[in-house]
Amino acid sequence: MADSLEGKVALVTGGSRGIGAGIAKRLAADGASVALTYANSKDQADQVVADIAAAGGTAFAIQADSAVEADVVASVTETVQRYGQLDILVNNAGGGTFATLDEMATADIDRTLAVNVRAVILAIRESLKHLGPGGRIINIGSINAERVPFAGISVYAASKGAIAGLTRGLARELAPKGITINNVQPGPVDTDNNPADGPAAPLMLAAMALDRFGDVSEIGAFVSFLAGPDSGYITGANLNIDGGFTA
Ligand SMILES: NC(=O)c1ccc[n+]([C@@H]2O[C@H](COP(=O)([O-])OP(=O)(O)OC[C@H]3O[C@@H](n4cnc5c(N)ncnc54)[C@H](OP(=O)(O)O)[C@@H]3O)[C@@H](O)[C@H]2O)c1
Repeated sequence: MADSLEGKVALVTGGSRGIGAGIAKRLAADGASVALTYANSKDQADQVVADIAAAGGTAFAIQADSAVEADVVASVTETVQRYGQLDILVNNAGGGTFATLDEMATADIDRTLAVNVRAVILAIRESLKHLGPGGRIINIGSINAERVPFAGISVYAASKGAIAGLTRGLARELAPKGITINNVQPGPVDTDNNPADGPAAPLMLAAMALDRFGDVSEIGAFVSFLAGPDSGYITGANLNIDGGFTA
């Protein structure tokens, strides 16, 4: 256990699997008490909590659908009720329907925007009731806000582009409060949502400098740095961690 986040409380949305689980584990390993949300995967969320506890950390899981405003608000409230404060918000939950626009139903478009954009805005607004000087907000956007080298992800890319703009705008609003906000834009990372051996993998690898997908632990390490005491001069930044996807 490191101690760079000792005494801090973090809320990680979508912490039951993939990148969010990697972030939750790393923040806990660095000393934070971690609340993590999930939509459906109770068993996997409980397993992440158990893994954190087995490693000597502190965590608990909250069922909260990011598409539902009341759930988003309740997840912030439950975190503060459990741990007494909130210092770090990581907006990670997200995804999308991967299809060309002419194949997408309005409900799919609405859901992508609700989870990837609206939920992030609502979670930040609610968290601002608790975050104080030194507070950290870290959004998990996507490298597809910068580059979209194939068809079928336009609405997803639009949602992540919105997060980049939100991050810039809120940096101006939150600086006077001593709170930083940054947007981590991963390239391909091996998860259920984007498996390194999935059908789209060759397309992605062809666009990259490094010939491999990222590991969730690499995103977790980057997020932990941004959550910690050494990143205080970084705000409003859209930070690529992409294996050279944009090189
Ligand atoms: N993997 C990549 O290559 C990549 C690249 C760039 C950006 N990203 C971004 O990184 C984030 C995580 O992606 P991932 O690849 O780790 O995805 P993943 O493996 O599919 O995991 C998604 C996580 O988010 C949760 N989640 C999804 N919808 C939710 C909702 N409506 N309410 C609450 N939780 C919800 C899931 O909970 P359940 O387990 O309950 O379903 C799960 O914990 C997303 O924002 C994604 O856009 C991923």
